[in-house]
Amino acid sequence: MTFSCGNAESLDTLSKASAEGELIFKKQCALCHGLNGNKQLSGAKKLIESKLSMNEIEALATYGMRQMPSFKERLTIEEIKLVSDYAYQFRESK
Ligand code: HEC
Repeated sequence: MTFSCGNAESLDTLSKASAEGELIFKKQCALCHGLNGNKQLSGAKKLIESKLSMNEIEALATYGMRQMPSFKERLTIEEIKLVSDYAYQFRESK
């Protein structure tokens, strides 16, 4: 994806995408990770301290790991991308 400065259309799509990512996160992830990415239910890692790349977060959300469930039956690839985007930005809000 490319971002160009001052392009209202791409900014618009971007904020729509993150709003949808936020919605999915609240439904599917906040139970363990908390609304702000700092909760650690059943051993969940703090998302605000995560060092994982976007691709790694997507892979983890798709296939799961130990106590972290797999979401490939529950979310589409597009939704996993959106929610991973959202999960990724917690470290920047710290
Ligand atoms: C049932 C509780 C639970 C739910 C729901 C859950 N997770 Fe997790 N998550 C975990 C646990 C537990 C770990 C730690 C896995 C491990 O390393 O053993 C984890 C780890 C992670 C990590 C890795 C952080 C790091 O740096 O190691 C990311 C990213 C993540 N989860 C994102 C998500 C996203 C995105 C969702 C929603 C689609 C989600 N999780 C839903 C429990 C959960």
